[in-house]
Amino acid sequence: MTDGENGSVYHIAIAVKNLEEAEKLYTKAVGLKVTHRETVEDQGVKAVMLKPESKEGTAIELLEPTNDNSPISKFIEKKGEGIHHICFYVDDLEASLKVLKDEGMRLIDEEPRIGADNMKVAFVHPKSFNGVLVELAEIKKD
Ligand code: CO
Repeated sequence: MTDGENGSVYHIAIAVKNLEEAEKLYTKAVGLKVTHRETVEDQGVKAVMLKPESKEGTAIELLEPTNDNSPISKFIEKKGEGIHHICFYVDDLEASLKVLKDEGMRLIDEEPRIGADNMKVAFVHPKSFNGVLVELAEIKKD
C-alpha cells in the first residue's frame, strides 16, 4: 500500500547496527507498525519499513548491513549510525531523472530500478543534492 503525492516524503532511511534493537525503539517508543521486511543479499542490506498505525504519513526505513562490504557498513564505518537517505514520491520517475540528467546532476541510478515493495526507484548522488542521498520513488497508479 502506498500513498503520498508528488514531492511528499515517502520514507526516511536510517542506517543501524542492530535492526532488532532499532525496531523495538520505533515500535515501542514511537508506536510505528512494521509494514514490510526485506533482505536484499546482493546489496548487503536487511530492511524494515515502519509506518504510523493508519499506514498514512511518512515511513521510517531501518537498514542494517548483512556483511562488511555492504554500502550500509561503509556508511556506518565512515559516519556512524544515522540518517542514510530521504525518499520522495514522484509522479513520473523517468521524467524526474531526465530533468536531473539535463541539469548535469550525478545519478547513482541512470534508469529506474525495482526497489522495496515493487516500486520503481532511483538514487541521486549526494554531491548533487546538498550532501543528502536522495531516493525517488514513483507513485503507483493502480
Ligand atoms: Co529507501
